[in-house]
Amino acid sequence: MLRTHTCGELRITDVNKQVTLAGWVQRLRDKGSVLWIDLRDRYGITQLIFEEGKTDPALLESSRNLGREYVILVEGTVVERPAKNDKIPTGDIEIKATRITVLNAAKLPPFTIEDETDGGDELRMKYRYLDLRRNIVREKLQLRHKMAQQTRTYLDAQNFIEVETPVLIKSTPEGARDFVVPSRVHGGEFYALPQSPQTFKQLLMVSGFDRYYQIVKCFRDEDLRADRQPEFTQIDCEMSFITQEDILNTFEGLVRHLFKNVKGIDLPSVPRMFYDDAMKLYGSDKPDTRFDMKFVEITALTKGKSFPVFESADLVVGICAKGCAEYTRKQIDELTEYVKRPQIGAKGLVYLQYKSDGSLKSSVDKFYSADDLKAWADMFGAQPGDLILLMAGETDTTRKQLNELRLLVGERLGLRDKNKFSALWVIDFPLLEWNEETKRYHAMHHPFTSPKPEDIGLLDTNPGKVRANAYDMVINGTEVGGGSIRIHDAATQQLMFSHLGFSEEEARKQFGFLMEAFEYGAPPHGGIAFGFDRLCSIFGGADSIRDFIAFPKNNAGKDVMIDSPSTISQEQLNELSLSIKL
Ligand code: AMO
Repeated sequence: MLRTHTCGELRITDVNKQVTLAGWVQRLRDKGSVLWIDLRDRYGITQLIFEEGKTDPALLESSRNLGREYVILVEGTVVERPAKNDKIPTGDIEIKATRITVLNAAKLPPFTIEDETDGGDELRMKYRYLDLRRNIVREKLQLRHKMAQQTRTYLDAQNFIEVETPVLIKSTPEGARDFVVPSRVHGGEFYALPQSPQTFKQLLMVSGFDRYYQIVKCFRDEDLRADRQPEFTQIDCEMSFITQEDILNTFEGLVRHLFKNVKGIDLPSVPRMFYDDAMKLYGSDKPDTRFDMKFVEITALTKGKSFPVFESADLVVGICAKGCAEYTRKQIDELTEYVKRPQIGAKGLVYLQYKSDGSLKSSVDKFYSADDLKAWADMFGAQPGDLILLMAGETDTTRKQLNELRLLVGERLGLRDKNKFSALWVIDFPLLEWNEETKRYHAMHHPFTSPKPEDIGLLDTNPGKVRANAYDMVINGTEVGGGSIRIHDAATQQLMFSHLGFSEEEARKQFGFLMEAFEYGAPPHGGIAFGFDRLCSIFGGADSIRDFIAFPKNNAGKDVMIDSPSTISQEQLNELSLSIKL
């Protein structure tokens, strides 16, 4: 090894040791008679000191010329620092340098490589390899590494086998668009990149693997958001001879193992909520349960009083913001403007202030008596000092809009603490989802998900009401994982395809291999996939998954560092039998 120690290693007990360190010059402070250099590597920062009268003058002079981010090797003695720095673990010591070897010079970096940087997002993305030198970015990838290690430890102990599945495949129906790869050998034909290894893991169950997992790249051509990347990673799992209960327990175990071993947190057992209840109480299938503020419906109490908005509404529903009765007109207007933004699309907001003196004031005083308003407040269990916010309209839309308001109010009240973790299973998702554009039902999860046996009869009469043996895990309002018990017989699978509007021929063309496999002894099976990047970002207390990916795409789905996607030569196009009209 070129070095004897790392830059994060030396302590007061190492004083007088002769050491050799290697790393990058983070910063120079030149006081004339004394020169300090902060030397950085992956493990930390160690201060080097050069002093007039104590350091060889030639060494002092040449060290002055070292630039930021030069790669150097330093030999010297560990000495106690007169002025200690309790902010870093090596802050009690410094290295009295006796020799410096420049391993490589460096151009001046385009932004400062420190925790507080002057580089904007795009610049740091373009020079991602420099951004990764920063502690706070590197630490996120170290967390990711630890998460992956602990995932493997847990699943291995549970007898899961890691199996790799192919990347050049054909379309997997997870609901997004496929990325496709043209075949040179088979001109005019395309591979698709997996949106998930769904069909392969089911085939592995037919093969008898019984417990499979894989930490695996998935590819989805969909609109980007803070918690979405076109290529992302799943902890993908499948089990045979199990019930839904077994899956929930096994993977609750995984998440609790991760909290315990990565963050030292004892996560309580994960509560379960029916999808229907999640929608009714939170207006979302991924409720943030770090705080309560459940929806309360008061539709019946509002009727017959000539307030047109409530009269015509299918649902009048609200939340109670504790201690917010004294919100000013301006604050309430801000909330109203927020829900009226096109992204949310509400028509307005009705408020009821339960003042600390016990009086009630609302924006609909004209229509409702004090007794009416008191009855509303009682429905909410409101106390003097609370603010009730109400929305009305078509049931599903109103719930979704109120969900947005609930999250905003929760945020404002500081109830969405990133260091607090609340996990939840949402179970019994609908099997099918109506799509207004295509005017037909789509699988809400994917077409291999098993309907609840007792609901199969509804497939013909009321398809939207059929529930599935499908579940999501939600942490702090983010869907971190989802899965289902699968259909494992060819006849039910065929029935599902026909309900999803696939002709027999289409189904056979796309999924014939799976249906055929089911005819050779498929065990009952089910599974789940966790969004690994999302799980890491939640553990890291961040909103965006980007920093937990070594080389992510930007908001436009581009890798600005390597400039991808990019055009290819006419020659390559010809080879791939592709012609492009721009
Ligand atoms: P699903 O489509 O729900 O299920 O995906 C599983 C989990 O993957 C994460 N995820 C994403 N993370 C980052 N960027 C994306 N674009 C992205 N899309 C999804 C989410 C999600 O919960 N094959 C099934 C699983 C199964 O049934 O076993 C599947 O892929 O956290």
